[in-house]
Amino acid sequence: MVVPAITDPGGMMPVPLCGCVPVVADTAPGSFNCDVDQIEALIGPLTSAIIVAHVAGEPADIRAIVALADRHGLPLIEDCAQAHGASMDGKPLGAYGTAAAFSTMWGKHHSTGGQGGVVFSRDAALIDQVRTAADRGKPSGSTIPAGRNAIASLNFNQDELASAIGRAQLSRLPDIVDRRRVFVEELRIRLDDEPAVELPEVPTGAQPSWWFLRVRYHGIEGWDKERFAAALAAERVPVNATYAALPHTYEWFRERRVFGASGFPWTATEYRGDPDRQFPCPNATAAIADHMVLQVMESWGAAEAELIATAIEKVVTVARGG
Ligand SMILES: Cc1ncc(COP(=O)(O)O)c(C=O)c1O
Repeated sequence: MVVPAITDPGGMMPVPLCGCVPVVADTAPGSFNCDVDQIEALIGPLTSAIIVAHVAGEPADIRAIVALADRHGLPLIEDCAQAHGASMDGKPLGAYGTAAAFSTMWGKHHSTGGQGGVVFSRDAALIDQVRTAADRGKPSGSTIPAGRNAIASLNFNQDELASAIGRAQLSRLPDIVDRRRVFVEELRIRLDDEPAVELPEVPTGAQPSWWFLRVRYHGIEGWDKERFAAALAAERVPVNATYAALPHTYEWFRERRVFGASGFPWTATEYRGDPDRQFPCPNATAAIADHMVLQVMESWGAAEAELIATAIEKVVTVARGG
């Protein structure tokens, strides 16, 4: 199964946990999102599906990726964990693929309180299978014989309280996303002439929802990214020097440690690929190396964009020795 290089571990770990081997697609140069060419290069006779993440709420090149999946007859799963309310050409992300998964943990635009998630698909039979998988394999709909557990699965049921929070929060989603767009566009205007930092370009037709904002740091002599980010943090800007989200570089993946020391699914007899295959992903590695991550708060607008731009300019001035 093709998975994106930059994603939360929760966007990749379910793949081997379901017995599928993840093959890792690099991102587009300078981007946190996958490139259609990088995905295509990985497709082979063993490929069963493509997972694409819209990281930070920035739409991936979804139209081209849908066309690619269709060309190869592969299901496409959109990971919309960070992309609630984002769209491409007016169509919401999550409505492009065969199915989409949304995380609704407390920090997401659409939250159900603690933890949780939503799966969307237009395929009713597929949703029946999802319900079954989310409820200890219990029958759901007409696809599975009644009275029997169809598969072994865990209990991912959502309780009523979480559902009530989720319904209320969903009605606020458009406002939450609008505010973030205002904040980012104001910040963009303010920082347009500042060569030390660069905000992501928005492709034509894309409407991001900005779960966070990646900020490219171009470097000032004597000030590496960590030092620059630490100075911003001292100005109370909620910034992280790095988005640590390259799951394939982590120990569990490198050591293929999913089901104890068995090496499964890489060691499965049915698997005819190279179990030790490496994924260098130079674009993703470079993108992580030269970006900081600015957290964007729900209540922010133009005034906060002004404050943050002023703090960035102050740090730039100090770094340049002014
Ligand atoms: C891109 C991505 N995929 C998947 C997940 C996993 O979501 P959850 O923690 O709700 O399982 C996250 C969580 O932040 C994520 O950011």
